[in-house]
Amino acid sequence: MRTHDYLSEKQDCADKVRNAGDEQQLESVRIEYLGRKGKIAAMYADLARRPQEERPQEGKKINELRTDVTRLIEEKKAALQSSKKRETLQSVDVTIPGVAVESGHTHLLSQTIDEICAVFERLGFVVREGPEVETEFNNFTALNIPADHPSRDGFDTFYLNQRDPGDKSANLLLRSHTSPAQIRIMEQFKPPLAVVVPGKVYRPDAVDASHSFMFHQIEGLMVDEDVKFSELKGLLTVFLNRLFGDNIKMRFRPHFFPFTEPSAEVDISCYICEGKGCSVCGRKGWLEIMGCGMVHPKVFEAVGYPKGKYTGLAFGLGVERIAMLKHGIHDIRIFYENDVRFLRQF
Ligand code: PHE
Repeated sequence: MRTHDYLSEKQDCADKVRNAGDEQQLESVRIEYLGRKGKIAAMYADLARRPQEERPQEGKKINELRTDVTRLIEEKKAALQSSKKRETLQSVDVTIPGVAVESGHTHLLSQTIDEICAVFERLGFVVREGPEVETEFNNFTALNIPADHPSRDGFDTFYLNQRDPGDKSANLLLRSHTSPAQIRIMEQFKPPLAVVVPGKVYRPDAVDASHSFMFHQIEGLMVDEDVKFSELKGLLTVFLNRLFGDNIKMRFRPHFFPFTEPSAEVDISCYICEGKGCSVCGRKGWLEIMGCGMVHPKVFEAVGYPKGKYTGLAFGLGVERIAMLKHGIHDIRIFYENDVRFLRQF
């Protein structure tokens, strides 16, 4: 029967723990003392062979030793781990130049849309969006575009060969302009209203420097009980001066749109040559900028507004065209090629 000097066992263990240089060495100390065949397990085995009356006191001493040893090892383990963490932190060389994070920015077309919408928002307009998949009714019929109008032809419009799930009689198509948003808004809201609607439109055009099967438009609509053509002129004057500067001249050229009456196209004097004629304006001195007019009574009828109660103004412009004119870009395709050498310039 061995007797144990618990105090000196504890001392030895403490020395070994202190000398353990890493977690692996510490683990061998733990196994030596606390392992299944370790020193403390052996002490408990001896305890069983002691006379009955000695066991409680002896057992208490072993328990104490086990608690002390466990604590010594745990403390050392924590110390080793935190010094390891400190070492890895210290190995970071803060003087090495960092890796710059490349951040993107808003695409020029989105910038142009934001800029245009911001001008109208300051004038009290609300920005709304409409879906790119539209019904034939909203895109054409409700806008007073007759069944035999060339823009309804399959060569001029992307039909989806699908029916509207809500109304099986309605053909679906990719909207060819943002004007169907006028119908949606008027069906949903009562005047007075003033909205601008930016978004994508689609036409099956052969792609070249000035045509794309998809491009962006912004639609404008203002309806109230007494909206006048003079307000349309005033509004567009303020808008175009904001966009192209106060020095431009404007002209309203009579035009035809089925959904406005009267209708006009708006030209501005070429801000590059100031009207003298250059390559940007094709030597004409004028740049065609947008279409506009007073909302046709047939359109009010289509959305169920009471006859004769309201008048309204509407306008539509091409975003790519504005961006190209403002920034001297000669090819529409470059907007969609995602060449960062181009995109970074704006
Ligand atoms: N929707 C017409 C187009 O795409 C533009 C327009 C909109 C004209 C609103 C008048 C009023 O050409």
